[in-house]
Amino acid sequence: MSLSAIAYARQNHPRFLDELKALLRIPSVSTLPEHKDDCRHAAEVLAADLAHIGMENVRLIETEGHPLVYADWLHAVGKPTVLVYGHYDVQPPDPLDEWLSPPFEPTERNGNIYARGAVDDKGQVCAQVKALESLLAADGSLPVNVRVLLEGEEEVGGEGIARFVASKPPELAADFALVSDTEMFAPGLPTLCVGLRGMIYTELEVRGARTDLHSGMYGGAAPNPFIALAQILAHLKDEDGHILIPGFYDDIIPPSPEELAAWRSLPFDEEQYRIAEVGAKQLVGEAGFSVLERTWARPTVDVHGIPGGFTGAGAKTVIPAKAVAKVSMRLVPGMTTAKSFALYKEYVERIAPAGVDVEVRLIHSGDPCLIPVDNPYIQAATRALCEVWGKETVFIRSGGSIPIVGDFARHLGLPSVMMGFGLPDDGLHAPNEKFNLRNFELGIESLIRFLEEVGR
Ligand code: BES
Ligand code: MN
Ligand code: MN
Repeated sequence: MSLSAIAYARQNHPRFLDELKALLRIPSVSTLPEHKDDCRHAAEVLAADLAHIGMENVRLIETEGHPLVYADWLHAVGKPTVLVYGHYDVQPPDPLDEWLSPPFEPTERNGNIYARGAVDDKGQVCAQVKALESLLAADGSLPVNVRVLLEGEEEVGGEGIARFVASKPPELAADFALVSDTEMFAPGLPTLCVGLRGMIYTELEVRGARTDLHSGMYGGAAPNPFIALAQILAHLKDEDGHILIPGFYDDIIPPSPEELAAWRSLPFDEEQYRIAEVGAKQLVGEAGFSVLERTWARPTVDVHGIPGGFTGAGAKTVIPAKAVAKVSMRLVPGMTTAKSFALYKEYVERIAPAGVDVEVRLIHSGDPCLIPVDNPYIQAATRALCEVWGKETVFIRSGGSIPIVGDFARHLGLPSVMMGFGLPDDGLHAPNEKFNLRNFELGIESLIRFLEEVGR
């Protein structure tokens, strides 16, 4: 019964928090080769936890990259099967000097736990595992059939899990997916995320001279790849935030008037968002669209870094032979990764200045997704959230991407319930990432109640 599982969770909360801290101490940064063993270690720790709480068929599934963690418990005869998803990999912690406590030494301060991965996504994966533990320990069984699938490459595009899911393995037969990797719209406001942007992440390489050249001897005659790169980048968007790639907007499916009306009634203060979350003197973006529309329902282009050339201290007078930019585009429903990339590549090649060669490479991509809300799992989720938080659930979209969610729908026919417990100021991917401890606790309770509601 629900009360006993929740009572168990409350009683065991200090240990749950200790175990979360142990997970947070493992620097499972998926993009950095030197952390490969740490990624496997995080997977092994989670697998051991899952076995320990009574999940069955626990194993690591090897991929070309970091392993998947699989576990199941399939004894709820006649009940639905849920595929529980999260990721154990994290983003790199830099810039290190901006952290108030070290990124892999989880530290409690003012009701939060600070560490890289605290909210994205180890804290939320841990909440899922602790919800399962509480149900198994208190009831000796689960109210629904459960399959757990955790990945270690979400932050780098999720290629391994994408291949596994596309092969439609019998291990993934389920009725819906439960994804805990999103945020609540505001503190205390229960939220389900029903849409994510997709993305294409690219590298743009510009080559000029055969080799680096003395900038006095050759400057004025030899092409400079950084200047050429800057010219290309400057033509991706105009001053009004409008993307200049021809055809880029053609296939967008705009949100319905009802969805837009619901967004307008969300508690959102643009000035507060500008100051407290963004911290810039002005927001930018496409005229005629609200901030929520700009971040949830419009595509965008961003530049993440421009490696190359001379970046040491002091001065070096050189015309570098090549320059690179890391450029990504967020996509919204209606757009596809293949077509968007093709349009972008064609445009960049066309506008490249004279004297240089450009190469446009796709690093990873994921399609956007929109979740249908007229299903019993979403309804069960809103009932569970209302019990725990005492409020009606709001439906939001997110500007972020979780590539596998679209694949769950496409390949496995699964709707996802994206029930997450992050807060807007948690600092995902940024220094001083945190997870609110109350959200960790109530997140576990929400997940317990949700699984019970589904099994009712
Ligand atoms: N959990 C985030 C995505 C997210 C953030 C969803 C906030 C909802 C609210 C996820 O870990 C993430 O960061 N994804 C990457 C995906 C990319 C590397 C393919 C992203 O959005 O940049
Ligand atoms: Mn995440
Ligand atoms: Mn992330």
